[in-house]
Amino acid sequence: MRPIVVSSAALPFDITPILGDVTYVAPARGELGRAELMDVIAGAVGLISLLTVAVDEELLAAAPGLRVVANFAVGFDNVSLAAATRRGIAVTNTPDVLTEATADFTFALILGTARRLVEGDRLVRSGGWTGWEPGLMLGADVAGATLGIIGMGRIGRAVARRARGFDMNVIYTSRSRPGDAAATLAELGARAVPLAELLASSDVVSLHCPLTPDTRHVIDATALAAMKNSAILINTARGACVDEDALAQALLRGDIAGAGLDVFTDEPAVHPGLLACERVVLAPHLGSATTTARRRMAEICAHAVRAVLDGRRPPTLINPEVCS
Ligand code: GLV
Repeated sequence: MRPIVVSSAALPFDITPILGDVTYVAPARGELGRAELMDVIAGAVGLISLLTVAVDEELLAAAPGLRVVANFAVGFDNVSLAAATRRGIAVTNTPDVLTEATADFTFALILGTARRLVEGDRLVRSGGWTGWEPGLMLGADVAGATLGIIGMGRIGRAVARRARGFDMNVIYTSRSRPGDAAATLAELGARAVPLAELLASSDVVSLHCPLTPDTRHVIDATALAAMKNSAILINTARGACVDEDALAQALLRGDIAGAGLDVFTDEPAVHPGLLACERVVLAPHLGSATTTARRRMAEICAHAVRAVLDGRRPPTLINPEVCS
């Protein structure tokens, strides 16, 4: 019998040539519901999971033959890594191939939020635009502004490189040591600072950290109160890095000037306070959504599954402990 590989969602690319001699199970469109997934996973050796799927103890327990979870994302906060490792299941993600796409999208949000692009689009479409006005929708300068990057990993660094082209000053906080990246960061003039200094000095605060217990609500009421009233917050990381209640209140009070958000705590639901706020640009989690990035993410997942089935170590393995 051919091994069964399940994808929790329809993918817009055909990965079956990479998967090779397997039975590939995926919905014709959309995503499998939890009950359907629990059902089909029972006989599977491989799972390609979207970030919307909780790959938790319950799911893993329902899949006694599972050998690999290929998460279709760079972030893997949806996967219970400890539970998978305990069961000897390899977990992989899709780093690198989405770095530039996500950094581009971050800049789209920075520019769109600072220069009120979406508000302007709404005004033009509504028929309410009465002509050029000296005081119409004045925004903030991006050139010369200070960009505070929280999380200086691959995506943070790609954002810092772009910021240099916009003549921005870059400061950052990072949990990990810059290592090989230190020279690049020094070349970019990017300076590591404590979080308190980053919040107080930045005109744009942009999140590029993974969601972990340490970064959950890293932007909370206290952090928002420490930001400049003229500052904007950009989040392309994970919704739960921000306390959305506190953000909605801070925006309402004018404690900060605006926000560009690609991710939300309870996607696809959006906090009503954020929906109500004119100075918030909202995107439906599009950071990596270019055809090239998404195709390469799909290919990485398929190669990772194939590697494990062939007894090879996938290059994007997150829990190398399973190899020992
Ligand atoms: C998207 O959010 C990802 O983690 O790849």
